[in-house]
Amino acid sequence: KVLILDFGSQVTQLIARRVREAAVYCEIHPNDVSDDFIRSFEPKAIILSGSHASTYEDHELRAPQAVWDAGVPVLGICYGMQTMAVQLGGKVEWSDHREFGYAEVRAHGHTALLKGIEDFSTLEGHGMLKVWMSHGDKVTALPPGFKLLASTPSCPIAGMANEDKGYYAVQFHPEVTHTLRGQAMLTRFVREIAGCKGDWIMGDYIEEAVARIREQVGDEEVILGLSGGVDSSVAAALIHRAIGDQLTCVFVDHGLLRLNEGDMVMDMFEGKLHARVIRVDASEMFLGELAGVTDPEQKRKIIGRLFVDVFKAEAAKLKAGTGGHKGATFLAQGTIYPDVVESGGTKTKKATTIKSHHNVGGLPEQLGLKLLEPLRELFKDEVRALGVALGLPPEMVYRHPFPGPGLGVRILGEVKKQYADLLRRADAIFIDELRGWKDEATGKSWYDLTSQAFTVFLPVKSVGVMGDGRTYDYVVALRAVQTSDFMTADWAELPYGLLKKVSSRIINEVRGINRVTYDVSSKPPATIEWE
Ligand code: XMP
Repeated sequence: KVLILDFGSQVTQLIARRVREAAVYCEIHPNDVSDDFIRSFEPKAIILSGSHASTYEDHELRAPQAVWDAGVPVLGICYGMQTMAVQLGGKVEWSDHREFGYAEVRAHGHTALLKGIEDFSTLEGHGMLKVWMSHGDKVTALPPGFKLLASTPSCPIAGMANEDKGYYAVQFHPEVTHTLRGQAMLTRFVREIAGCKGDWIMGDYIEEAVARIREQVGDEEVILGLSGGVDSSVAAALIHRAIGDQLTCVFVDHGLLRLNEGDMVMDMFEGKLHARVIRVDASEMFLGELAGVTDPEQKRKIIGRLFVDVFKAEAAKLKAGTGGHKGATFLAQGTIYPDVVESGGTKTKKATTIKSHHNVGGLPEQLGLKLLEPLRELFKDEVRALGVALGLPPEMVYRHPFPGPGLGVRILGEVKKQYADLLRRADAIFIDELRGWKDEATGKSWYDLTSQAFTVFLPVKSVGVMGDGRTYDYVVALRAVQTSDFMTADWAELPYGLLKKVSSRIINEVRGINRVTYDVSSKPPATIEWE
């Protein structure tokens, strides 16, 4: 396994991700772990991370001596390169301003790390690499025994290596995707240079994660808000695997869930996994507070506020301890790595709120509970793979996203139980047909070929004819989009045959709906949800 020592860079998790993509197990630990820890970890290789952009005051951070005594390959990245240089007898020029940016690096020589890894070659035969690099502090003299590995005009020593010892270092960041061949470099380091096998799979991750959760929680108790969404479901399954009945899940049913969703969540977690789940049926309360409210933002705020209130009330009960349980001290959340990055302030604030997403941040502090976030270092696709490895059904793990306010934002205007019931049934038909309809060219279902698909209830009536009679009933709109990031989206070109079947099934099977339309708006200028 590979040991990553974290000097505080915002992208350290990405190193772990890339190493795992090379199918090699790794763990991230703080840079100041003890020499004993490193010896007992028995790493096959060590990677020293970067440090965050404004820490020039902290350039006293050093790798423990055991790193250099371990006799294994070491890769220094950015700050990791600088500390390697200083500790092994080279020189670094510190500077108080740094820039993180795109650069073209010339790769020298034929080191095991960079040989043949290049985006293009120059006339002189050097490989050129497109990379992301921190300028500012830089290595100005190689340590004894090291040779030059890469350079740029402004950073003459942008990489160095002592191949006899297996020490490599780069000033740029191979872990970010902007460094085009970064994955190839990291794979080569852990697999070829360090000789790791590349046979690590998600199943092994479970054991490590379970051990970590047990260590963190001890004999204390944990509460988790289960929504039925992928992240909270996988977190619940993982924590339950680790600590069983020390976990209590709280599932708030706001009455705006999809058809049978509440029962399916209970069936899975209580029925199959035997987890302790408290289902709070708060639908009357939600629908009561939503009565007469038509403004989308107001609806979102009400749903968000009630959700937090209901959850807090349950959590307070659990914190106090009930029926043989001594009281919870941890709140678990299914925070995943992109959430961590987003809340790290690296994203610019949007100038206007398009839609206020409901947000349960700040809950642990308000409740006086410690935070347990076992998925913090994983990306969505890894969370899904983990869910499957934990035995969750793939249909659950690969489900399209569903917004926190649920059907509350898919019933335009005032939310009524009657509307929600009609919408649930129409939507279930749409999803059922999408799952069943296979695309001939790819063999995939249209559910898998779309990123998100759902039905929207329009509170308008139109005239129709059924049998000999006139109908005057409601309208629904089908929405199906394809997107990679949900920031922009195209409407999906669903086959006409599929649309035809969905339309006729909804109109025949759901009494009260006599017209089905298909939404052909892309985002922008429309959004994915209608409210
Ligand atoms: P829009 O409608 O803004 O949606 O194009 C983008 C994505 O976000 C989802 N969405 C939400 N998710 N809480 C959530 O957890 C919310 O309040 C919320 N509102 C929208 C939407 O379903 C789509 O995937």
